[in-house]
Amino acid sequence: MLEMMRSRRSIRKFEDKPVEKEKLDVIIECALRSPSSMGKRPWKIWTVKDRADLEKMSKAKPHGLDFVAKAPVAFIVAGYPDAADVWIEDCSIVSIVLQLEAEMLGLGSCWGQIRRRMYDENTSSSDYLKSAMGLDADCEVLSIIAIGYKAEEKKGHSGIPSEKVIIK
Ligand SMILES: Cc1cc2nc3c(=O)[nH]c(=O)nc-3n(C[C@H](O)[C@H](O)[C@H](O)COP(=O)(O)O)c2cc1C
Repeated sequence: MLEMMRSRRSIRKFEDKPVEKEKLDVIIECALRSPSSMGKRPWKIWTVKDRADLEKMSKAKPHGLDFVAKAPVAFIVAGYPDAADVWIEDCSIVSIVLQLEAEMLGLGSCWGQIRRRMYDENTSSSDYLKSAMGLDADCEVLSIIAIGYKAEEKKGHSGIPSEKVIIK
C-alpha cells in the first residue's frame, strides 16, 4: 500500500483500450466490501462504458469533468440519504476504494466531484445525472470515478507535509 500511495496520482488521460471485465469485477467487489456506518451500505455503483453516456456524464458540471468523456469506463457512485445519515462518508469510502484498487491493478483514475456542484443555475449536477442517466429518484450522486489505462506519466508527490500530523 505504501509503495502504491507513494507513486499514485490522479490520471485524466487514458489509452483508447478497454478495461478487462476481470479487472472491473475485482474493483467493484473491493468497493462493495467497503466499511459503512452500521453496515448499511447506502450506496449504488453504476458502471458506464457507453461512449455517448460518458459524454453526457462529462457535462454534469461546466468544468472539471472533461476526462470522463474520454475514459473507457466511469463509475457513478450514488448514495441514498434516506437510508443513512452518513451516506456521504460511506460513498466517499467507496469512491476511494474504487480508485485505489484500480491503481493496484495498474490502471489510472480520477475523481469527478458531483455532490454540491451545479449543472446550471437551477439544476444540481446530481439531478442532471439522475435525469440524463435514468438513476433512482431517491439517490444523490456523490462522485464519478473514471478509470482506464494511463496515457500520462506523473511522478508521485515528493514530500509529505509533516505539519499535518500531530503526535502527542
Ligand atoms: C473529493 C475530490 C474531488 C475531486 N474532484 C475533481 C474534479 O471534479 N475534477 C478533477 O479533474 N479532479 C478532481 N479531483 C482530483 C484532485 O484534483 C486531485 O486529487 C488533486 O489535485 C491532487 O492530485 P493527485 O491526486 O494527483 O495527488 C478530486 C479529488 C477529490 C478527492
